[in-house]
Amino acid sequence: MTSIAIIGGTGMNQWPGLEVLERRDLDTLYGKPSAPLLRGRVAGCEAWFLARHGEGHKLPPHAINYRANLRALKDVGVQQVVAIAAVGAIAPWFAPGEVAVPDDLIDRSWGREHTYSDGQPGSVLEHVEFTHPYAPPLRAALLAAAAAAGVELGRAGVMAVTQGPRLETPAEIRALQRDGADMVGMTGMPEAGLARELGLDYACLAVSVNWAAGLSPAGAGIHDEIHASIEAGMDKVRRVLAALLPRLATSAEA
Ligand code: HPA
Repeated sequence: MTSIAIIGGTGMNQWPGLEVLERRDLDTLYGKPSAPLLRGRVAGCEAWFLARHGEGHKLPPHAINYRANLRALKDVGVQQVVAIAAVGAIAPWFAPGEVAVPDDLIDRSWGREHTYSDGQPGSVLEHVEFTHPYAPPLRAALLAAAAAAGVELGRAGVMAVTQGPRLETPAEIRALQRDGADMVGMTGMPEAGLARELGLDYACLAVSVNWAAGLSPAGAGIHDEIHASIEAGMDKVRRVLAALLPRLATSAEA
């Protein structure tokens, strides 16, 4: 059974190089996922792929059915989820085009269906531990894969998750910076929390695509920066994933 899934976001709404073997149009207790799940082959290994923003990249971050997405992956037997996230850089070490594997997060999203412990009949009240929001073994596998692929990673980093879809103000970014955030995206939560509730191993490969609001040394527009950097960053992502899948497949067999 294929136990690895990649959730692709902005810049990776499709997975070039994925030879699609199966397309599953699923429904869950929580509704339909963003898109059909694709099972395919890359680098000689099988993996599932889900386009977080839907086919055609139409779903804004707050309208994504995160509960259905994670539940659908669990239902097809996925155990490990690597989330690809295009983010704005807050830390000076995370220039656009660089990739990093965050190890902590700050959730500033709101109003999203963020838990399966929702008090509905059949649900169980569980206070899942979130001291390590990203699964340490999967993070370690990503770091090893990046090294094997010759992709230099930024430091670990703290991911802040904002509501969007608008970008932040400079004052909001300064506040996140004071709170210890190194990068900012819009979809990291409730995705990571729901994965934890379902017992899935979840880690994130973050791609810096712009300096967060007010931080561009060149004073460049955010959309211009995104345009200029996203392909270089996603090329690194694809290389890391191609090195990751055989490693995960081997450790699953061991
Ligand atoms: N802020 C929030 N989310 C983002 C950004 C940003 O600057 N860039 C890409 N996703």
